[in-house]
Amino acid sequence: MLSVPGAIDRARSARRIDHDIETLAGSDYTLSSTAIRRYAYTDVYAHTLDYFRQQFQDLGFDVFEDPVGTLVARNRPRGVEVFGLGSHCDSNRNGGKYDGTMGVVTALEVCRLNRDLKSNLPLQVISFLEEEGSGFGHMLLGSRIMSQRVTEEELRQPIRAVDDARSFWEHSQAAGYHPECWRDSIQVLQDLVGWIEMHIEQGRVLQDTGTRIGLVHAIAGCIHADVTVHGRADHAGATPMDFRLDAGLVAAECMLELEQLVRAAGNGTVGTVGEMELEPGLINVVPGLARFSLDIRGVDQDTFTGVATSIAAFAEGAARRRGMTAKCSTRQAMPATLMEKKILEAMEGAVQMTGESFTRIASGAAHDTMCVADHVPAAMIFIPCKDGISHSPLEEASAMDAALAAEVILRAIHSLLT
Ligand code: GLV
Ligand code: MN
Ligand code: MN
Repeated sequence: MLSVPGAIDRARSARRIDHDIETLAGSDYTLSSTAIRRYAYTDVYAHTLDYFRQQFQDLGFDVFEDPVGTLVARNRPRGVEVFGLGSHCDSNRNGGKYDGTMGVVTALEVCRLNRDLKSNLPLQVISFLEEEGSGFGHMLLGSRIMSQRVTEEELRQPIRAVDDARSFWEHSQAAGYHPECWRDSIQVLQDLVGWIEMHIEQGRVLQDTGTRIGLVHAIAGCIHADVTVHGRADHAGATPMDFRLDAGLVAAECMLELEQLVRAAGNGTVGTVGEMELEPGLINVVPGLARFSLDIRGVDQDTFTGVATSIAAFAEGAARRRGMTAKCSTRQAMPATLMEKKILEAMEGAVQMTGESFTRIASGAAHDTMCVADHVPAAMIFIPCKDGISHSPLEEASAMDAALAAEVILRAIHSLLT
């Protein structure tokens, strides 16, 4: 029997959430002394999973990992239907305490409330591996593996560690996991009747409108790609301007063109060149090779994919006009994803019960929920973050807002299951 959650002591929830967040910001849990930096298969990442494992075991949950290291905790035997919640606890390389981790901590708090209030909800928490791509340069890797949005060839070869270029496969095996069983990861989703991920907003809409809760109706789709321009490296002093094949100039033209294309496309489309390498990368040598990344996103699928097609064509043309070649290759593409109406309505009803402010909002950032939504009715809930800052040690979010989100999630799950 599920019992109706009664009054909830939000201040107590906030104290527990704050304690988890501050503990996980300690030196055992980050590779950097100035930021949170943790990614798959590092010691600090393993310590973080150990922390959550212990917390869930203390609640009497069964805790295990999927074949590559996504953490799962559930309070019912496998094969029994459960409601899913969670996020990720890896970070951007120069990350803060909240992106991802606050979502797993809030899920843990929902489980604590479930115990305290004797609500008896069947729950399963997931902390996805490698959401940020900080270890292997591919976002949402754990959830893409789980939802079978990767190929074995990608895991064995092209997906390589940023630090030492060894393959994901090799690293995963060296850490004691079983990448050869990656397809079994989907079993984690099999008993889920629904899914909610809590996350900081990563924008400033909630803060600037004084709204405490964002109910996410759609997540922007995304294309990540690399453009490589081949020119010719020459002496920067001895080579007159008319005799150069400067790959850096094609990259520069492409950066400006991308801005024009996304502005013209509108519909909330955004485009960014966030990585740029020039080779040989010396002050006195004309770049013979330029490689830069493309991050193009939007909630309107045709619009943002149209920009991606146009910039790839532009890069080839711009290189050709200067006597060079350019090639664009896609790292990953995620379609724009709509959230489940029924779950949004349940969360809306739950926030209304609390009397707190809320709004419907689109997520510009990608989330593991995009992959979960392939298989399970799914939605997300946002809380404000200071000045919209994320992927930075300056991230800040309020434990009281996370406590409110935990209450909303608990009440929403209760109403969906009864
Ligand atoms: C994930 O963190 C993203 O870049 O959207
Ligand atoms: Mn995140
Ligand atoms: Mn992030």
